[in-house]
Amino acid sequence: MRITTPERLEDEDVIEKTLRPGNLSEFVGQIRIKDNLGISIKAAEKRDEAMDHCLFYGPPGLGKTTLAYIMAKELDVNIIAISGPVIEKPGDLCGILTKLEKRDVLFIDEIHRIGKTAEEYLYPAMEDFKLDIMLDTGPNARSIRINLNPFTLIGATTRTGTLSSPLRSRFDLSFRLGFYSVDELELIIRRSSEILKTEIDTKSCFEIAKRARGTPRIGNRLLKRVRDYAEVKSDGNIKPGLTKKALDMLGVDETGFGELDKEILSTIVEKYNGGPVGLNTIATSISEEPETIEDVFEPYLIQQGFIKRTSRGREATQKAYEYLGKKKPSLF
Ligand SMILES: Nc1ncnc2c1ncn2[C@@H]1O[C@H](COP(=O)(O)OP(=O)(O)OP(=O)(O)O)[C@@H](O)[C@H]1O
Ligand SMILES: [Mg+2]
Repeated sequence: MRITTPERLEDEDVIEKTLRPGNLSEFVGQIRIKDNLGISIKAAEKRDEAMDHCLFYGPPGLGKTTLAYIMAKELDVNIIAISGPVIEKPGDLCGILTKLEKRDVLFIDEIHRIGKTAEEYLYPAMEDFKLDIMLDTGPNARSIRINLNPFTLIGATTRTGTLSSPLRSRFDLSFRLGFYSVDELELIIRRSSEILKTEIDTKSCFEIAKRARGTPRIGNRLLKRVRDYAEVKSDGNIKPGLTKKALDMLGVDETGFGELDKEILSTIVEKYNGGPVGLNTIATSISEEPETIEDVFEPYLIQQGFIKRTSRGREATQKAYEYLGKKKPSLF
């Protein structure tokens, strides 16, 4: 399961930084988002203002963090990156906000996990670049106002559902990252192999792209593993016969599904007769968090047409039955 999980593995920090595209033109796919960002960046530059606040959401590994860094680079400003769960108290936030220089980017990853009171401090900061800090409580309570430099907040989340609506509405721009096509993943893998100084043939590149689950992070991970295999079995360059063998050995099948995808499908089909079955029931059956299924695994299964979300729960489609080698029971 680990090799096909879209979430970042512990040891992938360095490699991700190495392979991360540095500017918008190197960033493959997501054309509409890139076009929009390109315009916002230019407009902000022309007016010498901070760019509008911007939210990226979507499943893991599709490029949210990458885009945040690219924007700071394109805007030619500093980026301060923090993670939502670290900001519990307003004080955690004030220290950071007051250090921002004009037009800087503040990137808050996992912004849905920011502490509630800290979040409320963020509202006037985003709207008017002001912080109202409360001193004392009770009858002596008074507040002082601190003016901040105009900055751009970039938020990233895999869970828009849990983002409060006051926070969501304060983002002027909001973009949902979608899965990548096989063609786009081929471009990403080709580019990564050049950075890693590994030769790769067209067919191998396609094989890897096809099994990458629409996710650049997984594409890069598979490329690295296949390269290791080629290193051991041959001269380190990736050649046709090698790739398929390596991927089969890693247990990544033709669709790119991992253990968890298969478990989700077989639970719906075998235990619950194809559904509809509720998310929590599926989660309990396979001992996973419902959030992980909903945010990390299910989006791809839905996009590929293996399951459907209905008002009564999740349903397996004909494609899921075919994948599991089973016949879908007819309704009549
Ligand atoms: N459009 C792209 N073009 C090229 N490479 C990409 C693209 N998107 C992502 N990548 C690669 O995939 C890796 C993962 O992307 P990133 O860390 O930005 O994902 P994320 O959406 O922030 O994931 P998470 O939700 O887990 O934080 C990056 O290191 C980068 O190398
Ligand atoms: Mg990220």
